[in-house]
Amino acid sequence: MDDSGREHPENGQQAAAEVPLARVVVQPAGRRSDVPCGSTVLAAVRAAGLELVSVCGGRGLCGGCRVTARGGLTHPTGQEHELLTAAELAAGTRLACQAAVVADVRVNVPPESLTTRQRLQFEGQAVTAAALDPAVVALDVQVRPPALDDLRSDASRLEDAVAAAGQPETRTSLAVLSEASTTLRARRWAVRAVVHRDARRIIALLPSGSAPLGAAIDAGTTKLAAYLVNLETGETVATGAAPNPQVAVGEDVMSRIAYADASQAGARDLHARLVDGVNGLLGELGTQADASAAQLVDAVAVGNTAMHHMLVGLPLRQLGRAPYVPAVTEALELRGADIGLALAPGAPVYLPPNIAGFVGADHTAVLLAAGVTGSARTVLVLDIGTNTEISVASGGRLWACSCASGPAFEGAHIRDGMRAAAGAIERVSYLDGHFEVQTIDGGAPAGICGSGVLDAVVAARTAGIVDERGRMSRTHPLVTRSGSEPACVLVPAARTAHGRDIVLTRSDIGEIQLAKAAIRAGIELLLAAAGADAGALDEVVVAGAFGTYLNVTSAVAAGLLPRLPPERYRQIGNAAGLGARQLLISRQRRALADQVARRVRYVELTTHPDFADTFTQELTLGPAVLEPVTRGAI
Ligand code: FES
Repeated sequence: MDDSGREHPENGQQAAAEVPLARVVVQPAGRRSDVPCGSTVLAAVRAAGLELVSVCGGRGLCGGCRVTARGGLTHPTGQEHELLTAAELAAGTRLACQAAVVADVRVNVPPESLTTRQRLQFEGQAVTAAALDPAVVALDVQVRPPALDDLRSDASRLEDAVAAAGQPETRTSLAVLSEASTTLRARRWAVRAVVHRDARRIIALLPSGSAPLGAAIDAGTTKLAAYLVNLETGETVATGAAPNPQVAVGEDVMSRIAYADASQAGARDLHARLVDGVNGLLGELGTQADASAAQLVDAVAVGNTAMHHMLVGLPLRQLGRAPYVPAVTEALELRGADIGLALAPGAPVYLPPNIAGFVGADHTAVLLAAGVTGSARTVLVLDIGTNTEISVASGGRLWACSCASGPAFEGAHIRDGMRAAAGAIERVSYLDGHFEVQTIDGGAPAGICGSGVLDAVVAARTAGIVDERGRMSRTHPLVTRSGSEPACVLVPAARTAHGRDIVLTRSDIGEIQLAKAAIRAGIELLLAAAGADAGALDEVVVAGAFGTYLNVTSAVAAGLLPRLPPERYRQIGNAAGLGARQLLISRQRRALADQVARRVRYVELTTHPDFADTFTQELTLGPAVLEPVTRGAI
């Protein structure tokens, strides 16, 4: 370390003495690295512990490593002039592999330039925008012990102590009554009383000094995600995910509804599997945070309408039959223990309102997290999954629809598809006459996840292998056969983890065309309902697991998303989880959720007169080569 507090690289001490160091601050991660002048920004960002997309291996060919920075860097190279527009260069956009550090510099890394692993890491740390105003508060109270001249009941003396601490007219819940006499004596009458402020109920007694925690649960069809949040600080203290155990009895929502419909035992089984899965996850998070279930004094659960109904134990039959209505749309608050959740015995669980049969409480949470609820701007919000929910906010009003986009973007129904996990190809480019790929973990490719498939389709279009109708050339040197159909080889067997070619087949392209057409038709029809057109969109917010991995440039090139300047796109990761955390720490957000769900106008696509034609039109893929769109060029 030198006088300025800078650390020299461990190796090359001699070189460090000769070459001056420059400090690189990497935002928004808030990391820094001190590197010898002349190092590339890519190397400096790596030294700061972050991984950027670099499909071309740093040759300035793929454009994946875009960052913004001003000053302290060499002038743009020829490769940068080729891949970046004049407007982007003027705005400070650089290719990290081309720009070299010459002096101290601050570099801003957009989410799309981070590898998936890193994006997920930062998503877990996302700071909630909601002001801290939770439904429950913990009060340190010293309860007066009984005496011959004070024969009040234990509940009365506890309630009096809570009133003295600022929460008058509070009653003790039955769950707390059953343990209070023992607990108060065991803790020498000093406890943290957890009070539900609106219900005016004492819902838990915690040991002095222990933090009240809340659980935010995102019950997805294939994946469960959960977060533990300190309700006094708003800090997320543990994050985790697990497969939804219901997958074993049905991959999609409709097959689970049919399973529940077949017998009462089926419905009970679905509920039990979901609750077991959530409780298992909460147990893991408790271990991570060194907290017990008794500390979980509040919970928020979001999910699509079917998952919402399965968690609560509501009837599902009407959700599986036209006109697909929910049993309830209003927000619910229940005692967690009543539906089997492993929380403190008196802890509530809040479920925000559903919007429609196929636009659930998770989308309400997404709209809150996206911050578009009161916006006068025109904003498109997509939560892409097996079922894609789409909303348009415009002039303070909201429209929503849902479309069946299928599992292709989750890597299912794709010949070499896999979930976004180690070994999954997440980026594909066509460079110098062959395909270059990048896997999520940098290891040998084992398969291709949804974002990789979309990239691959666009790369195959660029290579002239696939035409706009999705037909594949049979004569191109990179095309082979997979069974009875043509397939293009993305990674030859010698370079894969399993020693087999990884290919993109004609059927894979068909799956992507169907998913793309369903989503784009939904976008177009919703924009029409809102009286807006794509060019008028001020912002497009892309949420959801696939939205985290998605390469927006490819999504635009494939025609999945409207052609807009890149700065109008915002990828916000698991927004349902973020919205759930906001609902956990803010009563104001819960009130807003009610307003939002009431205001949304639901547009039913299955009976929409223009759906079939729009869907058919949207089956075509985008142009092979996409000219960049710059600000104001629409
Ligand atoms: S890594 Fe910089 S352009 Fe490919």
